[in-house]
Amino acid sequence: MAKVSIIGAGNVGATAADVIARSNYCHEVVLIDVKPGLAEGKALDIGQTAPLFGFDTKVRGYTNDYKAVADSDVVVITAGRPRSPGMSRDDLIHVNAEIIRSVIEPATFYAPNAIFLIVTNPLDTMTYYAYKLSKLPHQRVIGMAGVLDTARYRYFLAQELNASVQDIEAMLLGGHGDTMVPLPRYTTIGGIPIVNLIAPDKLQAIIERTKFGGGEITKLLGTSAWYAPGASIAQMVASILLDQKRVIPCSAYLQGQYDLHDIYIGVPIKLGRNGVEEIIQLALNEEEKKLLHTSAEAVRAMNKVLKF
Ligand code: NAI
Ligand code: 2OP
Repeated sequence: MAKVSIIGAGNVGATAADVIARSNYCHEVVLIDVKPGLAEGKALDIGQTAPLFGFDTKVRGYTNDYKAVADSDVVVITAGRPRSPGMSRDDLIHVNAEIIRSVIEPATFYAPNAIFLIVTNPLDTMTYYAYKLSKLPHQRVIGMAGVLDTARYRYFLAQELNASVQDIEAMLLGGHGDTMVPLPRYTTIGGIPIVNLIAPDKLQAIIERTKFGGGEITKLLGTSAWYAPGASIAQMVASILLDQKRVIPCSAYLQGQYDLHDIYIGVPIKLGRNGVEEIIQLALNEEEKKLLHTSAEAVRAMNKVLKF
């Protein structure tokens, strides 16, 4: 059995805890938050669904008590501010970097052997920052974004094609932002390349909607999404704890792959019990390469704000 701790019991963290607890492959899910009572309250509420959904996972909440994180197999960091109106990207980066700094130290102290999944935005920069601060092997510090972005892409494609999302396989590269790179050449429905089944203008519209999928929801809700992000975290946690070795896009540390060095950015990885078990290098055409490198520049510009 396994233990997962989630730091940040807000919308995304609590949703991830809910999905993971229901899946019934962990003996314990711990929620931690800085806001007194929040993690305890969310944990109780989720725990009380156990008789309804029939799971045995213990869900426990704590206010800033990192001892509870001890012996975790996976630690998920969702602590941080979502973007709100009037807040610049730079404002968000400084606020959230400070939060990452304050949680990574106690979390790595109490769970030095865990795999760390970073969710806080700006995602690729916060994952890089957490990696640097933690001094953990890069295979054990991974950013969640590509799973969510491909879920959105697959959902929009299924709607357009009036098809089952289950038959749509998709891949996507790059940073978690407007410069992300959905890859139509690596997108299929029932094994058939999507480019053979959808008009180029319709496909382009779906790609654009995917890139701004987070913003579309933020505009509607006044804060960012949580159901799909929470479920995306749960898929990564399952791939690690059940050693599924899923091939999924995640923000991983590159050292020359795709001609990129010393950067966290979205690429296909094989995700298993040891974290990043392989970084898969796709054969890209010139245009795809250019888009990925443009995205890497945007991530590097964000990294520079933190001067590390
Ligand atoms: P939220 O505001 O609902 O929850 C954040 C929680 O973090 C709050 O409960 C807050 O009290 C807690 N927190 C703040 N500082 C803390 C600290 N030092 N220690 C422990 N807890 C602390 O926000 P939400 O919607 O859950 O989003 C969380 C983060 O995830 C944001 O940065 C958001 O932008 C990001 N996000 C990333 C996604 C991705 O694809 N990577 C998708 C959706 C959200
Ligand atoms: C999302 O994509 C804001 O990163 C968040 O929903």
